[in-house]
Amino acid sequence: MMRRIVFSVGPMGLIVLASMMVIPFAFADQPSKRPSDEVLGKTLYERHCFSCHGPNGQGDGPAVEALLFKVPKLEPVEADDKTVELVQTGRGTMPSFAASLDKHDTRRILRHMKFEAPVEKTP
Ligand code: HEC
Repeated sequence: MMRRIVFSVGPMGLIVLASMMVIPFAFADQPSKRPSDEVLGKTLYERHCFSCHGPNGQGDGPAVEALLFKVPKLEPVEADDKTVELVQTGRGTMPSFAASLDKHDTRRILRHMKFEAPVEKTP
């Protein structure tokens, strides 16, 4: 049986087969490709906040037309504890995000909301 396989794949086939087995190990202990804090902040902003706050925090996201309340243009956003707390709790007509975002992700978003640093494209 083994002979048959060897015979039918031939020497080149064996080299290809062998490298298919070795390559995954060669890459196995590379650090996993975790997105940077900047990319995470941008991605999470787009997922949770963009609909209301819009591309630059002007309060012109796509959901705003359907809302019965206005979303104010943001003042420069600080990524401090107070603002993290505010996003977690919600305020006025802004919903609470405590269930979907932890403090760290919230802070990543707030850093993104300075809308100043260029963000590399997510691969
Ligand atoms: C449903 C629409 C909506 C969504 C979604 C939303 N916001 Fe807001 N946001 C508001 C409104 C409305 C206000 C003004 C709240 C008030 O009345 O004080 C606000 C205010 C803010 C402020 C300003 C607070 C201040 O200091 O004046 C920050 C910062 C903020 N939002 C961050 C976020 C972040 C971060 C997210 C996503 C995790 C988010 N918002 C998602 C509607 C929204």
